[in-house]
Amino acid sequence: MELIKENLPCHVAIIMDGNGRWAKRHGLKRYQGHEKGADTVRMVVRTTRELGIPYLTLYAFSEENWKRSSIEIQTLMRLLNRFLESELNEMMENGIRLLAMGRLYKLPSATQKLLYKTMEITSKNKDMTLILALSYGGRQEILDAINEILKQKYEPGEITEEILRSHMYLKEIPDPDLLIRTSGEMRISNFMIWQIAYTELYITPVLWPDFSKEDYLSALNDYQKRDRRFGGAD
Ligand code: FPP
Repeated sequence: MELIKENLPCHVAIIMDGNGRWAKRHGLKRYQGHEKGADTVRMVVRTTRELGIPYLTLYAFSEENWKRSSIEIQTLMRLLNRFLESELNEMMENGIRLLAMGRLYKLPSATQKLLYKTMEITSKNKDMTLILALSYGGRQEILDAINEILKQKYEPGEITEEILRSHMYLKEIPDPDLLIRTSGEMRISNFMIWQIAYTELYITPVLWPDFSKEDYLSALNDYQKRDRRFGGAD
């Protein structure tokens, strides 16, 4: 499989789905599926960096995920904390800046502290940006943006795409070029609904813990065959 370097996406976003099903299929507990899923996260971050793709966004915890059992939420937060601690050196060595987006104030305070500390330490890194969507919902992001805009004086008709965009959680990040979803579900699940208007979708039946480097490269290869017109004609 030959990837053309000039035609790689600038921003890949991923809905990492299927940890629970993977665990069930292997007769394991759900948390073990998430643990295995965290290994896939490491592989995807490393591969993205190796390929020179500048932005990677991972849907790590949705607003809706707060409905899960407290045990599962604790497991996910523990895995996130462990990831932030264990990957810091690698992020520094590889020039990776960490950003997070979502209603971060709802996260446990220890996780928030670690998150803000990691973002601060990595803030000058320039080679790649890893964005974790945490306590994130696309509708909530749009609502939060509108509520911010309403604090200023605007007349009806004055709100433009640029103004709305500039009030989103992360302002200077280009829209995703490619959205990958694992485990075969044909839906968007409230992920970056504003930003993915013209994003190429790639849905694979592979469960997130099984998603391999080859699977990732196949998704990128498929992307390279797409003819992107952004609503225009040839
Ligand atoms: C979906 O699987 C996955 C999640 C809700 C969380 C994703 C979390 C990780 C991959 C691990 C930790 C993250 C980081 C950044 C280290 P699911 O439980 O919805 O699977 P199911 O639909 O099969 O039940």
